[in-house]
Amino acid sequence: MSACDLSVRIASLVLRNPVLSASGTYGHGLEMGVFTAAAELGAWVSKTVTLEPRGGNPAPRICETEAGLLNSIGLENRGLEHYIAHTLPLMAAADTVVVTNIGGERVQDFAELARRLDGESAVDALEVNLSCPNVQGGKLPFATDRVLAAEVVRAVRAATHKPIFAKLSPNTAGLGEIARAVEGAGADAITAVNTLLGLALDWRTRRPGLATVQGGYSGPGIKPVALRCAWECARAVRIPVIGCGGIQDAADALEYLVAGCTAVQVGTASFADPALPGKLAREMASLLAAQGIGSARELCGTIHDGREARDAVQAR
Ligand code: FUM
Repeated sequence: MSACDLSVRIASLVLRNPVLSASGTYGHGLEMGVFTAAAELGAWVSKTVTLEPRGGNPAPRICETEAGLLNSIGLENRGLEHYIAHTLPLMAAADTVVVTNIGGERVQDFAELARRLDGESAVDALEVNLSCPNVQGGKLPFATDRVLAAEVVRAVRAATHKPIFAKLSPNTAGLGEIARAVEGAGADAITAVNTLLGLALDWRTRRPGLATVQGGYSGPGIKPVALRCAWECARAVRIPVIGCGGIQDAADALEYLVAGCTAVQVGTASFADPALPGKLAREMASLLAAQGIGSARELCGTIHDGREARDAVQAR
């Protein structure tokens, strides 16, 4: 039993540890209990739920690459009615925090989803998916424009009392400004980040690996990019940042905390090892305890990035 306290706070939620499942990589969590008990995770994040059922994009829509995975699922899901009637009652019994990830193509879609989920006691928080690269022609309208991103979050804020996580994209310049815009619009936390736009092809057949040609790239290859994005967000805002991208082991997760994140999400690595999220929390505790660090919170934002020196100069 480790002496390290892994608990973290995000808005009104207390998570027993900083490891969350990443949306879209862990079903709705229900299928994963045989590998990682819900109680071993800080939170479950659902696959994106949309107002209406979606069949998703044509196959092939998963393609393995040298250092990760390309996907173009296209937000396949059974829609909000099915989620409320059949999925949420099962999720409600889970001994962990439940985060429902919501997606839409119009501001009012997000607002309507938030309004309908506000009364669902099984939902502890909403993650607003501003950043799926596999819908709307891959144009990412909400993730690349701080005004539109803020508009969505403001509409969701007006429709729910629940904590809101805004999930941002690495496929944009000025991520810090977008983070600040969604914070100003009422987000309680930022998830940084979704997948990178990518392309795989076979030069002999000239065929792309995905029917949609481009898709979202995830896995170990994106970690330096995602870590930079999380750090950029953490420097830009006061609300908690949840780091996501390429995490494969406890050391990766701790790097995100040092960069300024309060918690992390584990995604693609769960496909290879569905028991990984539970293991990560235990290994994080051991690594921290071995360094004499008493809590995960102590590590948050301890990066030596020159900011300490600048802060000291400004404080003079
Ligand atoms: O295509 C997808 O369902 C992916 C969603 C996402 O990256 O948010």
